[in-house]
Amino acid sequence: MSSNQLDTKAQAWSALFSEPMSELVKRYTASVFFDKRLANADIRGSLAHAEMLRAVGIISADDLADIQRGLSQIQAEIDAGQFQWQLDLEDVHLNIEARLTQLVGDAGKRLHTGRSRNDQVATDIRLWLRDEIDAIDALLVALQSALVDVAEQNKHVILPGFTHLQVAQPVSFGHHLLAYVEMFARDQARLQDVRKRVNQLPLGAAALAGTTYPLDRLRVAKTLEMEGVCQNSLDAVSDRDFAIEFTAAASLVMVHVSRLSEELIIWMSQNFGFIKIADRFTTGSSIMPQKKNPDVPELARGKTGRVVGHLMGLITLMKGQPLAYNKDNQEDKEPLFDTVDTLKDTLRIFAEMVGGQVDPATGLKSGGITVNAVAMRGAAMRGYATATDLADYLVKKGLPFRDAHEIVAHAVKTAQSEGVDLSELSLTTLQTFDSRIEADVFGPLSLEGSMNERNTLGGTSPEQVSAQIARHRARLS
Ligand code: ARG
Repeated sequence: MSSNQLDTKAQAWSALFSEPMSELVKRYTASVFFDKRLANADIRGSLAHAEMLRAVGIISADDLADIQRGLSQIQAEIDAGQFQWQLDLEDVHLNIEARLTQLVGDAGKRLHTGRSRNDQVATDIRLWLRDEIDAIDALLVALQSALVDVAEQNKHVILPGFTHLQVAQPVSFGHHLLAYVEMFARDQARLQDVRKRVNQLPLGAAALAGTTYPLDRLRVAKTLEMEGVCQNSLDAVSDRDFAIEFTAAASLVMVHVSRLSEELIIWMSQNFGFIKIADRFTTGSSIMPQKKNPDVPELARGKTGRVVGHLMGLITLMKGQPLAYNKDNQEDKEPLFDTVDTLKDTLRIFAEMVGGQVDPATGLKSGGITVNAVAMRGAAMRGYATATDLADYLVKKGLPFRDAHEIVAHAVKTAQSEGVDLSELSLTTLQTFDSRIEADVFGPLSLEGSMNERNTLGGTSPEQVSAQIARHRARLS
């Protein structure tokens, strides 16, 4: 065989094949135009494998040196955009191996000893995904920090808290934002948990059954900073559950972003006018000159469907595959790549949109959401947000809660017919509903009184909000 035996796919396998692939089948089966993204992981995996082959005496020191030199040149060619990716060579693995053999001859042909593309590709995706999880973790921290900053500035700002999108009770706007911090904190923990299962080494499983060479798998795992080795060769090459659970965790992050998006969109509509986001996250209309549309949150809400779709794609991909590796698994990459790209872009843009961005030249922060506390307060005033507080007041005066609830319903009805808030009814009027009502009722009936009194752990009082901010800051620093 010549040293460029892998030059074309038709020659890649063996003399067994009597006819070349048609162009259509080549295109259908090739993955190089998307899996070339795994090149760096592929090279790192190959270097670790080669170094171990040398350590256990399977290849010579000269072979290892040749492989290292060749792979470093290939990495440089890829970085410079000069690497010639060939469709004929099907995927990233065969492309790199063929180029290595072209560059260093026989040593390149020895690299694949004790290895199959099946354990190779599983290793590459895991390495790549592990590093992406770390990047996503940092972005989740940045978004949470931005939310905590805005929460801190707004812990005394009153927002009508909704249930059923109807005014329910006054809450601190800071408290509201911290609800999202909780969600993103759980997302972060979930991804850390997924990372443990991603960070296991398949190499050494070879095609499916392990290999006859005395490979030192633990050594390779250590070189690649993996936490362990996959313990069953059939499982190692065939399962993609780590990719599925990553995509599930990513879907939840996007669902949380999507909920926040929906709120931002509602809050910035003219009917609410609670917040503004910086112009650079909005677009105008080609026909209506007055419009500023919340495109970024809307797109994030839309892209959530796309990521959830990838989860469905991957989970369906796995279903029905017999052990061990099947080519179906080549279809894992595009959904996974797109999930990572979508998630990273979304988190980056949201951190900036929520918290603003510091200009490195001036040190000044711009962007970030602008809060209209007056509008929020006005909306809370219109919705009888302190009705529960009046009921609680009566309970503290000795009434059973159900009776208090009924009495307050009558008070709300009267206030509604007069077009005023409960706090705007006179003491004499209030006393017609229950004689136990005294002048001290106006404390709990005010929005501030209502909010400040909700001082149970996790409640909306500014005191609780401050405590949560301190906890988050310690966690995020
Ligand atoms: N491109 C393939 C994939 O992504 C690599 C593994 C191919 N293995 C095989 N036996 N055909 O899954």
